[in-house]
Amino acid sequence: MPKDFSIQNLFRDLEYTIFGTEVHQFLFRIAPLGEGALVLEPGCGCGKFGLAYALRGCEVILLDIDHEVVNYARRIRGALNSLLGFPLPVQIKVGNIHRMHFAGNSFDVVFNEGVPQHWPDEEKRQGSIDQMVRVSRDYVIVIGNNGLREEEQEADRSFDFTYKGMPPRRKCFTPDELETRLKKAGLKKVNVEGISPGKIEDSILIGGYGRKQ
Ligand SMILES: C[S@@+](CC[C@H](N)C(=O)[O-])C[C@H]1O[C@@H](n2cnc3c(N)ncnc32)[C@H](O)[C@@H]1O
Repeated sequence: MPKDFSIQNLFRDLEYTIFGTEVHQFLFRIAPLGEGALVLEPGCGCGKFGLAYALRGCEVILLDIDHEVVNYARRIRGALNSLLGFPLPVQIKVGNIHRMHFAGNSFDVVFNEGVPQHWPDEEKRQGSIDQMVRVSRDYVIVIGNNGLREEEQEADRSFDFTYKGMPPRRKCFTPDELETRLKKAGLKKVNVEGISPGKIEDSILIGGYGRKQ
């Protein structure tokens, strides 16, 4: 099933970018960055999170391996620029999270949503997080579906969507696994929370985060 680049989806993603979601609230609470901060979102998809950081004044780089996805994210940036009447400081590039050419410690926050969970093999699962930590100088945030939930475990078993650059698989992190991997990558002050309020085991999405300093 190819990704749907319809005008309806574009409009919905534009709305999420402008008005936010629980994930946006989580990101802005954990890494409350504004004017002049440098932000990287590798595996950005439509870019609705990174673009929202740009609306707060950050300088943002969005990276995705799929040319068509990158063009879609650029269309959303174009719509935002038209609505605002000035260009947002956002670069949207084709790139591979496993081979990022940025120097170490380049960004104030490096984050993504729904990315490392699509590599079940150890090398890319841990390697993608290691790369995020390498290029950050402060915050790293990894958001994904909650491996504690039966529904997500079932979705993992039946998952067959093929994102470019990923196998048609998904293996959600449990909070414990995500915490262990973030620590293994060298982060300090690591924590994992549910994105929705309430008990962590009930949240569809979890977010793991830590700091380099
Ligand atoms: C689940 S989607 C992320 C969705 C995104 N959070 C959003 O809001 O649209 C995973 C994304 O990772 C991208 N991707 C896959 N392999 C990649 C790689 N090696 N480097 C960078 N991006 C990659 C896919 O093209 C896809 O857009």
